[in-house]
This record gives sequence, C-alpha cells and structure tokens, in this order.
Amino acid sequence: TGHVTLDPGFTNTASTTSAITYIDGDAGILRYRGYPIDELAEKASFLEVAYLLIHGELPSQAELDNFTDNVKRHTLLDEKFRAFFSAFPRRAHPMAVLSSAVSALSTFYQDSLDPFDAEQVERSSIRLIAKLPTIAAYAYKTSIGQPLLYPDNSLGYVENFLRMTFGLPTEPYEVDPEIVRILDMLFVLHADHEQNCSTSTVRLVGSSHANLFSSISAGVDALFGPLHGGANQAVLEMLEQIHTNGDDVESFVRRVKNKEPGVKLMGFGHRVYKNYDPRAAVVKKATRKALDLLGKPDPLLDLAMRLEEVALSDDYFVERKLYPNVDFYTGVIYKAMGFPTNAFTVLFALGRLPGWIAQWREMMSDPATKIGRPRQVYVGETERSYVDIKSR
Ligand code: CMC
Repeated sequence: TGHVTLDPGFTNTASTTSAITYIDGDAGILRYRGYPIDELAEKASFLEVAYLLIHGELPSQAELDNFTDNVKRHTLLDEKFRAFFSAFPRRAHPMAVLSSAVSALSTFYQDSLDPFDAEQVERSSIRLIAKLPTIAAYAYKTSIGQPLLYPDNSLGYVENFLRMTFGLPTEPYEVDPEIVRILDMLFVLHADHEQNCSTSTVRLVGSSHANLFSSISAGVDALFGPLHGGANQAVLEMLEQIHTNGDDVESFVRRVKNKEPGVKLMGFGHRVYKNYDPRAAVVKKATRKALDLLGKPDPLLDLAMRLEEVALSDDYFVERKLYPNVDFYTGVIYKAMGFPTNAFTVLFALGRLPGWIAQWREMMSDPATKIGRPRQVYVGETERSYVDIKSR
C-alpha cells in the first residue's frame, strides 16, 4: 500500500487545490477571489459576494439583478414544511433544526439533485441561498410560538430575513437600514474561509457524489461544534458567566492559563491565523457602532475588550500566537439585534452558505477530484484467534 503519512487534524496536509479563498495566517490576510476582505466588507453586498465566490468574478449590475431576482423567486418553502417545524420540541436547538431542514430539502426538490447537471446544480444553489433565511426564521418563530411570516420579496435579502425573524403579521416591521447593512456585512465576513472543518465536510460528503443539499446539511452539523461556528454562542455564554459570577478578568485568564478542565478563552485562537484575524478587526469596529445605533450599551462588550487586552499582554497568549477570531465579538452584536444566544451559529451558517456551495461546485468540476478517503496508521492488536464465549 506504500507509504502513509500521519497528520492528525490535517495540520499540514492540503486536501485540494482551490482558487476561491486565500489566507496568509502569519500576515493576517484574507481574500475572496483576490479581493481583500476589508474592502468587500465595506463595499460589497452579501449577494454580490455570494455571486463572486460561486462564479469567480464580481457580477455586472445585470448579472446581480438577475441573480437577486432568481433568489427572490425561491424564498418560499413548501407548505408541508410547517408540519416539519412543529414536529420539533420547543427547545430544539435551531442548528439541529436547520441541518434537518436542509437535508429534507432534497426530498422536495428531486428535480435538482444530479451533481453533474450544471442547470440542476445552479437551481439547487439558488434554492439553498433563497430558503436558508426562511428556514432559520421559521425555526426561531416555532421555538417562541409565534406565527410564521411569508417572505416579503419586495425587501432585500437581509431585511426580509430580519422581518421573518422579528416581525409579526399584525404590525408593520421596521428596521434601521444601518442595522441591516451591519448584518449583511457580517454575512460577507463569514462567507468563506477555505478548507475549514465544515467546508472540508461539505467537500468530503460531496466527493461521494452525494447531492448538494445533503452535503450542505453535513456542513451545518460540522459548524455546530463549539470549536468551530458554535464558538460564537460559547463566547457569549462565557462572557455572561464571568459577568454574573462577578469574576474579575485576570482571574478568569489565570484559570484559562492553568488549563482548568473546560476553561478556554472561547473566540480566541485559530489553526491558520497566527496574527490578528482580519475579520475580528472589522467586527470589533462594527460592535460599538451597532450598540450605539440600537441604543443598547452592553457591559459584555466592555468585558470582552478587557479580556482581549489582558490576554494580548500575557505571555501565554503571546507565545502561542492566540488572537481574537471572528467569533469573539459577533455575539455581542447579535444579542443587541435581539437574536437569542442559540441562534448565533445559525447566523454563521447563513453567512457561510455561499462558500460551501462555491467549494462544492469547484470540487465537482475539478477533474482531479477523487472520493475523499483518508488512510490510517493501524495500532490495534495483531492477528489472534477467536475465543469461544464460554472461555472468555
Ligand atoms: N484558550 C486557551 N488556550 C488555547 C486556546 C484558547 N482559546 N486556543 C488554543 N489554545 C492553546 C492550546 O491549549 C495549545 O496550548 P499547548 O501548546 O500548551 O498545548 C496551543 O494554544 C495551540 O492550540 P491548539 O489547540 O493546538 O490549536 P488548534 O489549531 O488545534 O485549534 C482552535 C484551533 C480554534 C480549535 C482553538 O484555538 C480553540 O479551541 N479556540 C477556541 C474555540 C474558538 O474560538 N473557535 C473558533 C475558531 S474561528 C471561527 C471558526 O472556525 O468557526
């Protein structure tokens, strides 16, 4: 079988070539299709970035209009989905509902499952981008017992999502356009991050020629974990715990350094960034702005900033090159916007979706693609003879 290299966690093994996202972790650089992340965050809309990631180039106005119209045409869910949402317990975690719903999409749209039919792949991509906000909003509405709102296609992508999440059929929904812009920008920041755990999962599942819905559903599940997308929820829970316990920041950091079981500085550290995560820098600036706009000052923001300051001047974090990552500040914004803590990772998933789709499509159209099948180094028993149960 030849030589096999052991690389737990794939710290040093490239699983693919890719032309989508570039990261230089030492320099703190992130680019989508060559465009720096801070420029895209400032200037581009989420749907524009989705188009860029999937198709490789920024869309012309006509291309963007066409893409947007297409997405709008698919925002509705089959009415049978109502029964689907009501079948989950009230306290269901929205990430579990989301991954189940995405998986269930493949049962409704059997006309777009062929991974090698370009038209079908395009249709399932559009359906996912269009329906994920509806699914996310319905998971939330069901959990609080409020009526589900149909999408309003006169609204933009993010505003429509916010209305379906926070609106009521009895009242007009209004939201500050600057808040819409901030959430749109957060989606842009999350849109792709090359071969992270969930994206690699999407690719691995897709490499068996599973359909796009099934592959993305697996990606949602991978994102759920607290070391990955689930970190945004874990950060807020950590901040709340420090706040309610009245702990001081220094003693919490000391517990982290002592590696007390279960005590980590969530929202810090990254496999690839050994410098400030460029996304975190943008989020940090946006947090203050969002809290001001919403008129919701939050002691958790001051606590987070103090934690960052203490950590970044501490040898433990300096030596290990641990900096705040994208998840460190986002939760404070989501909370101010009114999202419950357990919905934070769903917001990450909405943002990451175009990246998953782009990576899956790049893989499917790459002639070098083979089924993903890691090798192992066997360390178990050598051959031995079966022992009858009476003699064990
Ligand atoms: N708090 C305390 N110590 C840490 C942390 C942290 N957040 N992150 C890493 N370390 C320590 C770790 O204990 C190890 O120390 P030592 O060399 O003494 O054993 C050293 O730093 C290297 O860490 P590692 O765990 O080997 O690094 P990794 O590349 O395997 O893990 C990570 C990366 C992101 C899983 C990890 O930093 C972590 O658990 N961070 C907290 C969770 C988090 O914020 N995740 C979000 C990541 S960014 C967005 C996303 O991908 O979803």
